[in-house]
Amino acid sequence: MLDIVVLAAGKGTRMKSDQPKVLHTIAGKPMLSHVLDTARKVGADNLNVVIGHGSELVEQTVAASDVKFVMQTEQLGTGHAVQQVEHLLRDDAVVIILCGDVPLIKQSTLTDLVAQVSANSMGLLTLDIDNATGYGRIVRDHNGEVIAIVEHKDATCEQLEICEINTGVMAFKGSHLKAWLHLISNKNSSGEYYLTDMIAIAHEKGIAIATAKAESEMEVLGVNNRMQQAMLERHFQQSIAEDLMVNGVTMMDPMRFDCRGSIAVGRDVHIDVNCVFEGEVKLGNGVVVGPNCVIKNAVIGDNTVIKANSMIDDATVANDCEVGPYARLRPGTELQSGVKIGNFVETKKAVIGVNSKVNHLSYVGDTVVGSGCNLGAGVITCNYDGANKFKTEIGNNVFVGTNTALVAPVTLADGSTTGAGSVISNSVGKNQLAVSRAKQRNIDGWVRPSKKH
Ligand code: UD1
Ligand code: MG
Repeated sequence: MLDIVVLAAGKGTRMKSDQPKVLHTIAGKPMLSHVLDTARKVGADNLNVVIGHGSELVEQTVAASDVKFVMQTEQLGTGHAVQQVEHLLRDDAVVIILCGDVPLIKQSTLTDLVAQVSANSMGLLTLDIDNATGYGRIVRDHNGEVIAIVEHKDATCEQLEICEINTGVMAFKGSHLKAWLHLISNKNSSGEYYLTDMIAIAHEKGIAIATAKAESEMEVLGVNNRMQQAMLERHFQQSIAEDLMVNGVTMMDPMRFDCRGSIAVGRDVHIDVNCVFEGEVKLGNGVVVGPNCVIKNAVIGDNTVIKANSMIDDATVANDCEVGPYARLRPGTELQSGVKIGNFVETKKAVIGVNSKVNHLSYVGDTVVGSGCNLGAGVITCNYDGANKFKTEIGNNVFVGTNTALVAPVTLADGSTTGAGSVISNSVGKNQLAVSRAKQRNIDGWVRPSKKH
């Protein structure tokens, strides 16, 4: 049984923000959600969040059926915060205390920490660090046993030399935590109820304090300002980039890569600089993504090339396609294999059949295109009359001439052709040519207007 308490009532003054600190994001996801997701992975079956500043928004944003929220109306310290959830904690569970502004804590570290807790021991996550300024220091006796935590503000000169710091993460047997919570006082330089006093209390009660070590400072760094937020963002992004490279992805520059969601890759994927991946993205074998692409909730098939400056949102692209440069695939786009979408082409709710091409300056919306078609430069589907949307249906082997306006609803049957510059508002039959434009007249002796003086 594992109970988790996440402390998230603090204001985060140094963020200089109207938004509660724990809702600020890393990789597009609120810091508090990172912490809750990790807690779930460790197997917590009782998740509690202590909220205070911006409580309504915090609750709204991270609400889930497995999360309970408890209000701390006055922020009287970390010990006081835990007191607010005491009634929700189970005596025989292990209880881990986490902070909502420490987003990158790892599942494996928490599992290690839980393993330190027994009927006669508690767990404390510490870290050896070069610059311990601001952190609580771990005080050990001559046998090396942890006996207390002393906050930076309350530390003696000698204690300030200690390089082992409190990460703020600790784990207790539920009954221990509940028995000791009321023994802490606010007799310290801040006048706050420090959770860290629990260590000295445990020691007095003859309970061993077993430490686990955090992997790195990044893992336990609390975000207090936007510089720290940016630092963790980069760290997080770099670790995703490293994972991808370990899995066989070539990255032109892992420092210029952003994933705000999840990315699954086949073999020999190549990602150029400044690409942003959002939501769930799947890249097949041999996919090449050019520079400056934004790809969101998309599946890209094997050997497809996405060229520079393309945007793909909620779309599927099959094998062997070419997209871009400067293409925009909007929600509901499905490109079948071998499709080519060129520069300044926008698609929305469009299915484009095998080997069809839309190479230049087009808008294709609410449309089904068959296989082997060519939509010339500037072809526009006029799918919207200002109130309603209508469909365009294009069969197989259709050639749509340059600058054709297809006024939906309209159908172009298999093998049909439209003449350049036509406005097509009536359906075209199989193998027919449709031309609808004024007949060209050549006027002799035409004099161009000249400038008036
Ligand atoms: C705390 C620890 C310190 C440790 C450091 C690690 C205490 C007394 N000190 O200090 O030993 O080295 O974390 O980062 O615990 N919070 C509430 N209600 C409150 C006060 C705080 O919910 O009344 C929340 C904050 O929102 C934050 C967390 O508790 O998420 C930690 O509080 P913070 O004020 O940041 O403690 P530190 O001074 O950093
Ligand atoms: Mg802090």
